[in-house]
Amino acid sequence: MKLYYNIKQIYEPKEGNKMKAIEIRNKYLNFFKSKGHSVIPSAPLIPENDPSVLFNTAGMQPLVPYLLGQKHPSGTRLTDYQKCLRTNDIDEVGDNRHLTFFEMLGNWSLGDYFKEESIAMSYEFLTKELGIPNEKLSVTCFKGDDDCVRDNVAYEAWKKAGIPDERIYFFGKDDNWWIAGEEGPCGPDTEMFYDTGKPKCSPECNPSCGCGKYVEIWNNVFMEFYKDKNGYSKLEQRNVDTGLGLERMTMLLEGKETPFDTELFKPVMDLLSKLQTNDNIQSRRIVAEHIRSSVMVINDGGRPSNVDRGYILRRLLRRMTRHLNKLGIDLEKLPEIIDCSIDCIKELYPELEKTREEIKKVIVEEKDKFMKTLQNGEREFDKVAKYLKNNGKTKLETESVFNLYETYGFPPEMTEELAKEQGLEVDMTDFKRLFEEHQEKSRLGSEQKFKGGLASTGEKEIMYHTATHLLNAALRVVLGDHVHQKGSNITEERMRFDFSHPAKMTDEEKQKAEDLVNKWINEKIDVTCFEMKKEEALKSGAECQFPERYPDVVTVYQIGDVSKEICGGPHVKNTGELGVFKIKKEEASSSGVRRIKAILE
Ligand code: SER
Repeated sequence: MKLYYNIKQIYEPKEGNKMKAIEIRNKYLNFFKSKGHSVIPSAPLIPENDPSVLFNTAGMQPLVPYLLGQKHPSGTRLTDYQKCLRTNDIDEVGDNRHLTFFEMLGNWSLGDYFKEESIAMSYEFLTKELGIPNEKLSVTCFKGDDDCVRDNVAYEAWKKAGIPDERIYFFGKDDNWWIAGEEGPCGPDTEMFYDTGKPKCSPECNPSCGCGKYVEIWNNVFMEFYKDKNGYSKLEQRNVDTGLGLERMTMLLEGKETPFDTELFKPVMDLLSKLQTNDNIQSRRIVAEHIRSSVMVINDGGRPSNVDRGYILRRLLRRMTRHLNKLGIDLEKLPEIIDCSIDCIKELYPELEKTREEIKKVIVEEKDKFMKTLQNGEREFDKVAKYLKNNGKTKLETESVFNLYETYGFPPEMTEELAKEQGLEVDMTDFKRLFEEHQEKSRLGSEQKFKGGLASTGEKEIMYHTATHLLNAALRVVLGDHVHQKGSNITEERMRFDFSHPAKMTDEEKQKAEDLVNKWINEKIDVTCFEMKKEEALKSGAECQFPERYPDVVTVYQIGDVSKEICGGPHVKNTGELGVFKIKKEEASSSGVRRIKAILE
C-alpha cells in the first residue's frame, strides 16, 4: 500500500451511506468473519520479543512465521485490524496526504483460498458492504516478467466480478509486486483504485499515475514466493495477504478531501485553528498527525530516547513542538490538544482511556526537554556567530547550519532567522544534499532493522563489525587522531568505512593500516564489553560517532588497549576469529571524508 493520495473531487456518499471509521472497521471484520475468518487481535505497534524491528509497518508483519508455513492456532483464514507506523516519509507529513500512523484492515489465507476467492470477496465487500458503485472501481494486475508469469488468473477473476477490460490495467514489479523490505515472503499483487471523477491528466493517465484521479484503496498480495539474496523460490504454501487503509477509506466514505478533514482529525485541526496566532495549515497537520502517532507509540510502551524507535518518537515530538511554536500556540495548551486527539480515536482504541494521563506526561516532558535543547542550540548559534564576526566573516556555511540541525536538533529555519537578525548571510545551497544524505542513512538504517527482524545478524556481519573497530583504531595510529568514524556499512561480503581525513591515503599508509589490523588479529586479543556512564566513557577516550544518539548509560566495547568504542554490538569474542583483513579500495566519500572498502578472507 502506498501512503498517499491527492484528490480534489471525491466520492459523494449518498445520504445515509456516510460511514465512520469504527463502522468501516466493524463491517470489515464481520464480513470476513461471515466468510469463515477468525478475528485475531491487533499486534502492538512495537513488535513483541523482537528488538530488531522498529515498528509494525503492515498487517502481515506479525504473521510472517505463519506465511512461511508455521500453523496458526486460529486456523487458515484470519482477519484483523493492525496498528502501523511508517516513518520513511516523516518529513512529507504536512501535505494533504501523508500519514505516519495508520490502521490497516487485513484478511489472510494461509494456504487456504487463493486469487479467485480473494478477489470475489474484495469486490463483494467494496460494492455490497460499503456501497461503492462498480463504475468507480479500477484495478491493476501484475504484467509478468522473468520471475513470474502475467497474472491472468487475477484478470479473469476481476472480469467475472464485473470489472470491464478498460478498467483492468497491467503493470510490472514497481506497481504490482509486494515485499516488506529486501527479503521475505512476496508475490504479485492486485490493487483496487477508487476513481475520483477528476478528468484524466493526460491520455495515458491510469491508476499508477500520481495526479490524484485514482486513489488506491486495497491491495491483495498473492504470496507464493520467498526472496533472498539468491533470488526467488516458491513457498510451500500459497497465501493471500491484503491491506486496506482505514484512514483513506474513512476519507472516501465521509466524503472528505483529505484525512485531516475526517472525524479522525478534524476536532484537533479545529482546536489548533482556535488556539493559533499564526495561520499555517501544514503546521496544523503536522501537529495533529504527530500527536496522534506519538499517542499510539506511547500507548504501546514506546518512550523518547536517542536510539531506534525511541529516537523516532523523539523526532515526532520535536517536530510537533516546533510547529506548535510556529503556530504561536501557548505550549501550556498541549495537554488539552492531546486530550482532543485521544478523543478523536478513543472509539477505535478504547485502551487509550487507561494510558491517557501517562501519555500526556511523557509528551509534555519531552516538549520541555526540547525547549531546553532549543535554548542550547541558540547558545551554540551565538558562539558560531561570534566566531564569524571576530574573524571578519559574514557568511554562515551550510555545514554549520546542518551541524546545528543534526547535533542540536536546531531547525534550519531558526538558524536562518537568527542569522538574519545578526546581519549574517546563510549559505543553504548544500543543505538539501546533506539533509537527503542524512535521510538516506536513516532510511537504510530502518530497512536494515526490518531485515534484521526477519533474518538476524549473521556471523560474517559480526566479524566485520569487530574489524571496523580495528580499522578505526589502525587509521588513528597511521594517520593521526583527527581520524573519526563518519559512517559504516556492513554486508556479508564486505565492510565499508567512512572516516575523516583530508587527503588520499598513500599506498604505504594503506599497507601500514592493513598490517596493523592483521597484527592485532594474530595477537588474538579478547573483545570485552561493559556498561558505563556515557559522560565517563567519552571522557576516557571512547570513540563514538553519534554521542547524542546514545542514552546516559552506554555499552562500551574494548579490544585490549587497541580500541575502545561506544557501540551496541554485537562483536566476536576474540580478534583471532577474524581471518585475514584486506583493504580493497580507498576513495573519496565527501569533502574531508575518505572511504575504505575491505574484506575478511
Ligand atoms: N502487505 C500489503 C501492503 O502493505 C498488503 O497488506 O500493502
